[in-house]
Amino acid sequence: MVKDRIRKWLASAGYVVFNTRARGGYARDGLFTWHDHRFQDDPAFRAAYARGVQAGAGVDPRMEWRVHVALWAARAAARAPGDFVECGVNAGFVSSAIMQRLNWSQTGRSFYLIDTFSGPVLAQYSRKEIERGRGRLAEEALSRGAYVTDLERVRANFAEWPNVKIVQGAVPGVLPSLGIGRVAFLHLDMNCAYPERAALEYFWDSLAPGAIVLFDDYAYFGHDAQAEAILLAAASLGAEVLSLPTGQGLIVK
Ligand SMILES: C[S@@+](CC[C@H](N)C(=O)[O-])C[C@H]1O[C@@H](n2cnc3c(N)ncnc32)[C@H](O)[C@@H]1O
Repeated sequence: MVKDRIRKWLASAGYVVFNTRARGGYARDGLFTWHDHRFQDDPAFRAAYARGVQAGAGVDPRMEWRVHVALWAARAAARAPGDFVECGVNAGFVSSAIMQRLNWSQTGRSFYLIDTFSGPVLAQYSRKEIERGRGRLAEEALSRGAYVTDLERVRANFAEWPNVKIVQGAVPGVLPSLGIGRVAFLHLDMNCAYPERAALEYFWDSLAPGAIVLFDDYAYFGHDAQAEAILLAAASLGAEVLSLPTGQGLIVK
């Protein structure tokens, strides 16, 4: 067969050829790779991912690799002192997975979950973002109910963890009123450049050494205005962002 001949030729040329038929590639959420994705078989990962899906009323967004990165980042951040913060929570998919994985009630930390719970703030989109269709996409997402506005549903989801602080408000305006001290983990997922940059700048001095900032959409297709804003902010803070093939971005303080 032609495929077998190609495989033999690649192997003889020194390439490592995996038996992709046995495992299959990973092709979803904007990421296609033949690389090993056995993290999905780990029972701890599966339980955390399932808890995330539960938060989203059973809807699986099929973003396993992004969650894998988020869980790794949260566990690494848990070696640093401080609270956890997420700006852009929606139904709590990623934050629920993290709390399940970290056995959150036992951590002695608070997890601040900050969201308007009424969707993105359309006035915060820049002209460039509007031109690139981000405002329209946000409006469409709002009208089809993709953003959670039922705060009671959100509270019910997080009720199992007493050390969670659900905050309804717009970033960055709401931040100074929260009195958040040292931060170990900051997850930014607001799909909008202005509040993400402002949140990074606001929290920078509060981040403990070893703290992690995870951007959900830093390198994600169609989110270039966020990447540009975060790059500028990071440069002025003396930080460097690791661009990940999942579309996320990562800073270790
Ligand atoms: C992509 S969703 C977050 C997804 C979430 N991290 C998850 O795990 O499913 C984006 C969220 O950001 C919120 N948001 C957008 N702009 C905001 C702002 N300026 N302040 C607070 N929340 C905002 C929206 O209401 C929306 O719920």
